[in-house]
Amino acid sequence: MDTTTESVKPPRDTWGSKLAFVLAAAGSAIGLGNIWGFPTVAGQNGGAAFLVVYLMAVVFIGAPVMLAELIIGRRTQRNPVGAFRALSRPGSRWVWVGGLGVLTGVIILSFYSVIAGWTLAYIFKTAIGTFEHGADTAAIFGDVAGNPWTAIGWHLAFMILTVGVVIGGVRDGIERWTKVLMPALFVLLALLVFRAVTLSGAPAGLHFYLNPDFSKINVRVVLAAIGQAFFSLSLGMGAMITYGSYVSKKDDLVSDALFVTGFDTLIAFMAGLIIFPTLFHAGLEPGTGGPGMVFVVLTSLLGSIPPAPYGGIIFGTGFFLLLAIAALTSSVSLLEVAAAWLIDERNVSRHKAAIWLGALSFVIGIPSALANGAVGWLSRLPGLGTDFLTFLFTVFGQYSLVIGSLFISLFIGWVWGTRNADVEVRANNGKFPLGRTWNFLIRFVAPVAIVAILASLLLP
Ligand code: TRP
Repeated sequence: MDTTTESVKPPRDTWGSKLAFVLAAAGSAIGLGNIWGFPTVAGQNGGAAFLVVYLMAVVFIGAPVMLAELIIGRRTQRNPVGAFRALSRPGSRWVWVGGLGVLTGVIILSFYSVIAGWTLAYIFKTAIGTFEHGADTAAIFGDVAGNPWTAIGWHLAFMILTVGVVIGGVRDGIERWTKVLMPALFVLLALLVFRAVTLSGAPAGLHFYLNPDFSKINVRVVLAAIGQAFFSLSLGMGAMITYGSYVSKKDDLVSDALFVTGFDTLIAFMAGLIIFPTLFHAGLEPGTGGPGMVFVVLTSLLGSIPPAPYGGIIFGTGFFLLLAIAALTSSVSLLEVAAAWLIDERNVSRHKAAIWLGALSFVIGIPSALANGAVGWLSRLPGLGTDFLTFLFTVFGQYSLVIGSLFISLFIGWVWGTRNADVEVRANNGKFPLGRTWNFLIRFVAPVAIVAILASLLLP
């Protein structure tokens, strides 16, 4: 037990209520990863077969790691670096897992803000009725993302918003947004699902999305599914450690973890129900199109929402507004990890930490902003064939999170130990529902699955 480091610090901010925490954690999880990332990755990896593997990854790996991060966070009340330091022996290398998380957060934020910038631009594009029936949505996307000034400008605008919320701090900044947003986003998505599945051509899309062809499953598909699950659930870099550090000892961590996991997965599933029927309706190929695919496909739906053109304008503007806010509650958690580290460990003020890290992440994001048409070689990296944004997403949004999650599960399962974890979960009312199952999943299933998949990548 380590109590020394815990008694010196002043009490930190906590969430205003249990609901507020659950919503904020859900706000971190639900974002571009669900609505932009999931359909894009699913489309590239075989549709329904990917969906099956994804759901298994969420249940058997994602949910247990979610609980693990919340436990570490609430136990230590620290940022990821401080958390690993508090729970391991002095001088131990485990703090590097926290350090990797801080770095990963800043880099994910760099390209996340670029995509979120497109959603800001689309709020205005939809509001002025750009997407009437038959509009060339691919060309419109090319205008937004392919112009260096608009791409960088919207990226900057979104980064400023993120920094602003993080400066506001946990209570005022993060809580307020999420409470209204989540239900509204859910309702709007449900209506869009209804529109999409009633389009002509929808059955082919539903077939692609829901009828698995298991011969399409291979190592790459499994890795993409695990990586996407971690990205979507905000796991593997300590975001949930950081959010868990603000949770009161009276909360039930198990139900929190299950709710956030379930809600996040439902939203991603619904996004697929919108994108794939629309994609087949429009006669497009799933799996091509890269980071712009969802923007091109979604907007092609707007022209067919009655009464024209107002239906499309109202739906489109509302949708991109909610998506931008959902992205904001996620980007805030990416920045908050690094900010909490500077605040806790380096005694930097919240203000300064947020501004400097935001500036850094903005600069790192510039090549991603130029990677969708503005600069040729960034849009198609020599030797790799993908664009720079997709490259960063793969390395930091998938690999780094998979590796981070591996270390988190090894740490809690074998080093700090599930006994200590058990005590922390029972801190509120003495119960740990599904405790045995979690124990087994976090000690054996998660690490073995991750190691196996990484190892099989190395094989010829
Ligand atoms: N989960 C968010 C999304 O789906 C993105 C995100 C926020 C994230 N915080 C994170 C991803 C931490 C990985 C780690 O859009």
